[in-house]
Amino acid sequence: MRVLEATESAIEEAAQVLGTGGLVAFPTETVYGLGALATDVDAVGRVFAAKGRPAGHPLIVHLPSPGALADWAVQVPEPAQLLAAACWPGPLTLVVRRSSRVPDAVTGGRDTVGLRVPAQPVALALLERVGSGVAAPSANRFGRVSPTAAAHVVADLGADVDLVLDGGPCSVGVESTIVEVLGGTPSVLRVGGVPVERLRELLGGELDLGITGPARAPGMLAAHYAPAARVVTAVPEALAEVLAAQVAGGRAVALLGPPADPGTVPEGVVVLDPVGDPESYARSLYQRLREADRVGADVVVAVLPPAGGLGTVVRDRLRRAEAAGT
Ligand code: TXA
Ligand code: MG
Repeated sequence: MRVLEATESAIEEAAQVLGTGGLVAFPTETVYGLGALATDVDAVGRVFAAKGRPAGHPLIVHLPSPGALADWAVQVPEPAQLLAAACWPGPLTLVVRRSSRVPDAVTGGRDTVGLRVPAQPVALALLERVGSGVAAPSANRFGRVSPTAAAHVVADLGADVDLVLDGGPCSVGVESTIVEVLGGTPSVLRVGGVPVERLRELLGGELDLGITGPARAPGMLAAHYAPAARVVTAVPEALAEVLAAQVAGGRAVALLGPPADPGTVPEGVVVLDPVGDPESYARSLYQRLREADRVGADVVVAVLPPAGGLGTVVRDRLRRAEAAGT
């Protein structure tokens, strides 16, 4: 595996690697993706192998511009056109009916496909050079938290990846929002970088929030969002009590959240770098969970931010991580 700083010539080289069937990990504004040319069935197969991911879990196809939607989807309903026009490039994935260009290997045989145009200059330059769709899941091993820096990709994936483009840390830090738009009321399958409040505003309230968990977006298992350490969430008012109980249990405890009043933090607790507003919490969430593992924590006590905007997304990921450990 080679790691290159994402200069123009490195991006050119990455495009050639993709064009000849290779795998390239690249930055997006959400998390790093592990890309293969979407029309190359063998390369797509290698993405599943590199991640250790079951073949039935569909991949998102990344496109260079909103105009490419018409090439990769058919019978695109009006709300999908509207969301694409308003949110792309950006952290929104639309699940729509696939065109014949999308191979079964990408969708796990489904007749729908997840599409998105990322808002990250390196990703866009790469997609433009490739001139096609790039199928990419998050560039972590199956069952690890998503990578938000090139070093996370290197730590997780091995020699099956030909090239890692290092474009620095991801600016959003949590995965894209996934909305299925097939003709009925648009339905949120995963909360993410585009807040649902914004979607509702754009759609005039026509939005189904009935996220029923893993079954909706296949492969969205709780364990995907969990570090090795067990995650225990706490509302700010209960923090002191939750920390005390964990420490009393004799576990190595790390604390994740906004700056805590020292009086509430028992001796021996490793205080991870504090997070600020919900946006910065989201940006640093996965990095901090990886740090908790690095310092050898048995338990990460994570303070829940208020709901709303990206706070809702952080709460969603923390709750899934918590559920994975129970
Ligand atoms: O922010 C993101 O979305 C990142 C970056 C790299 O773009 N990608 C990402 O990919 O998170 P992945 O594979 O880790 O998660 C994609 C999710 C999976 O849960 C998958 O089941 C769902 O999207 N998905 C993809 N295509 C789908 C489809 N046709 N129908 C339902 N769910 C789909
Ligand atoms: Mg993933």
